[in-house]
Amino acid sequence: MKQIVILGSTGSIGTNTLDIVAKFPEEFRIVGLTAATKDEKLEEQLRMFKPQIVALADHAAAARLRARCKDLPVEILSGLEGVAQVARLPEAALVISAIVGGAGLVPTLAAIRARKQVALANKEPMVMAGHLMQEEARRHGVRIFPVDSEHSAIFQSMEGHRREDIRRLILTASGGPLWELSREQMRDVKPAQALQHPNWKMGSKITIDSATLMNKGLEIIEARWLFDIPPSQIEVLVHRESIIHSLVEYKDGSVIAQLGLPDMRTPISYAMQYPARVPLDTPPLDLASIGTLTFYQPDHERFPCLGLGYQALRTGGTSPAVLNAANEIAVAAYLQEGIGFLDIADVIRTTTEAHTASEVSTVEDALEADRWAREKAEELVHALAR
Ligand SMILES: NC(=O)c1ccc[n+]([C@@H]2O[C@H](COP(=O)([O-])OP(=O)(O)OC[C@H]3O[C@@H](n4cnc5c(N)ncnc54)[C@H](OP(=O)(O)O)[C@@H]3O)[C@@H](O)[C@H]2O)c1
Repeated sequence: MKQIVILGSTGSIGTNTLDIVAKFPEEFRIVGLTAATKDEKLEEQLRMFKPQIVALADHAAAARLRARCKDLPVEILSGLEGVAQVARLPEAALVISAIVGGAGLVPTLAAIRARKQVALANKEPMVMAGHLMQEEARRHGVRIFPVDSEHSAIFQSMEGHRREDIRRLILTASGGPLWELSREQMRDVKPAQALQHPNWKMGSKITIDSATLMNKGLEIIEARWLFDIPPSQIEVLVHRESIIHSLVEYKDGSVIAQLGLPDMRTPISYAMQYPARVPLDTPPLDLASIGTLTFYQPDHERFPCLGLGYQALRTGGTSPAVLNAANEIAVAAYLQEGIGFLDIADVIRTTTEAHTASEVSTVEDALEADRWAREKAEELVHALAR
């Protein structure tokens, strides 16, 4: 029986993980859960899965939960330190890192330093401080298992092969909900339209990242650190159907890929039970009825965020942390209809251009760059506010 903590249990990855746990009670037990503000949803989860400890980042939400759960033998913590404390829970063997955004950096590092195995969905910390996270993981004997479907596919396609034989990693991208639109048409796209992802049902931030292709910009940086592969060997291919989740090309010309219907429970469960596979109720992949799989080069003109991701990766140091923070601010402003869809890339570009990159030697360096970029991006958003 594997004892599990979920950071971000009320989100899309969190609830998919709980779905797996509920189906396999002999294999997994929940010992800790965390969320930000959704105390009612967390209460439902804690009444069902009976963890010993939970945390809400928001103090007022935690106070509400405490008031309602006096009948339960559960410790309820609050604030970022409360979330980090759940991540360090001695009873846990595996931590599912599924907070959205840079807010996950400190708790995910806390889990690594407490020698927990980590199933990583929360890509933003890897973008902000990838080499530090990997260094900490090595120092503490921790394995980080990718949950992102593309990185899980690469991980699976690398199993049994030598890293030095790799020619390229090819990350697939669905192209998102706006792939067919011209830049002119994108100008007036409202959040409700940009949130309609054709293949995946995910949280709102990553869905907008998918629409701008910034999600792929973040993922190339994530791949660079997860697999220790230089940027020049990481490519992106648009594949509309999201059936091929990513590919690895080897130097003898062999290309190994992982395929499957788009269902996040597949990569989540692989990270939870590696190297075993969990028997899920997914329908068989019927390629004959799918018929055609389509592929395109990414379009950097219409989707400049991918290029901004490559640029930050090449510049290195604090650049990816700045890119990520500016993106978080711009996406949040777009979701509140404070700025337009095309403004997202402009806010990120202007913020990254105003930044002079420096080394990330400590987590504080990444957090300081994050703070600086949020402030700068907020100023830009304010100036653009409609
Ligand atoms: N969804 C997917 O299919 C998918 C696929 C691949 C990778 N990912 C990655 O996985 C991560 C989670 O994505 P998601 O779609 O599951 O996001 P989501 O649905 O928005 O859920 C985010 C979770 O994080 C919590 N949270 C938000 N801000 C927080 C903060 N400041 N401190 C502590 N907890 C906080 C939320 O709590 P509340 O509910 O209380 O706000 C929620 O539990 C992201 O990094 C995303 O890029 C997601």
